[in-house]
Amino acid sequence: MQVLTNKRVLLGVTGSIAAYKAADLVRRLREAGAEVRVVMTRGATEFVTPMTFQALSGKPVHLHLLDTEAEAGMGHIELARWADVILVAPASADFLARLTQGRADDLLAAVCLAGGRTPLAVAPAMNAQMWASAATQENVRLLGQRGVLRLGPDEGEQACGEVGAGRLLSAEAMILQLAQLFAPGSLSGRTVLVSAGPTREAIDPVRYLSNHSSGKMGFSIAAAAVEAGARVVLVAGPVVLPTPDRVERTDVISAMEMHDVILNQAKEADIFISTAAVADYRPALALDEKLKKDDSRLKLDLLPNPDILAAVKQQFPRLFCVGFAAETQHLADYAQQKLHKKGIDMVAANWVGPAAKATGGAFGSDENALHLFWCGGELELEQASKDKLARQLVSVIAQRYVLHERPDSDSEGNKVINIKR
Ligand code: C5P
Repeated sequence: MQVLTNKRVLLGVTGSIAAYKAADLVRRLREAGAEVRVVMTRGATEFVTPMTFQALSGKPVHLHLLDTEAEAGMGHIELARWADVILVAPASADFLARLTQGRADDLLAAVCLAGGRTPLAVAPAMNAQMWASAATQENVRLLGQRGVLRLGPDEGEQACGEVGAGRLLSAEAMILQLAQLFAPGSLSGRTVLVSAGPTREAIDPVRYLSNHSSGKMGFSIAAAAVEAGARVVLVAGPVVLPTPDRVERTDVISAMEMHDVILNQAKEADIFISTAAVADYRPALALDEKLKKDDSRLKLDLLPNPDILAAVKQQFPRLFCVGFAAETQHLADYAQQKLHKKGIDMVAANWVGPAAKATGGAFGSDENALHLFWCGGELELEQASKDKLARQLVSVIAQRYVLHERPDSDSEGNKVINIKR
């Protein structure tokens, strides 16, 4: 199956006896549909010739940091930009140590450092004792914390005659895990409930209290969740946006209406993404007739609306719940507080008001930036179009959802990846 169609894989090969297996990996990556460019460290060329990789990848092999001719017109920055994913396989103990230190003294290390938000995956391969050493384990732990995806190693008999962990993961397993980074079907079979837009709280038949939410972020998220293979139920407040393809939409006006519809839909959902800017208060009494003006001061008696997100999480504790936090100050603190107060699984925080100017503004704008927080982790998604951001967010939600469903699947959180803008 061509699980990597059109994907650009920059394969880094380092000095490990398993380097010869990388030749087959190039062939398999191309069979999976990927375009492959190879960067070799000096150590790797001791094991396999660059010619082998050139023949298999159909592209010049990149070897030296400062030799522009051999870099075939692509410097380390261009190479990093070119890639949809950087895969270092095999990754030697020495390379892992250099990666951890952030070295840039050879081409591959410099490319990894310049990769920014390009997902970086490493497939360690080394002697079992070297793998088990405290230094390597510490390096791997740090890399995992920084969002580097670790593929393997496998256990078994090694080239040096020892038996244990340190064998390069099979090409097949690596390709499957890489494909998951771009998985269009990462939410297939799941039902995602999304709330979007503002609510309107009637004062009388012609007036209401509301806010500036355009609903764009929620609609983009609904579309991204469909793309990721989910069945998507969108509960929208009053907005002027077309329904994204294949999204099941219910329109509501007030917070109370949204509350009832969402609590009903939550029964069937696996994930709830609460982007709606629900009005916190409603007039205690919505008048049947239009309120007449006079010269006296008018006081509105307001009642608090129920917190829909908190109510959903309370009634359906197994539902993976994502809240939004639009803040004008103390973004990280308020977001963390929301995470704990509402008992939810993730908070996507963004600036609003004057502070949002630096990030292009959230309400009504086509662009946004998000800072994601979950228990024990966070990830910043830089300013981008709401569509692009929604895809990134859905991808992170899909990963965290898997861990939430199977908390023991990766206790170190190594599968938390950097997302490319
Ligand atoms: O507490 P705060 O309003 O800042 O929290 C924002 C998050 O809570 C958003 O995800 C929003 O959709 C949700 N919310 C809600 N019901 C409310 C108020 C906010 O579901 N009444």
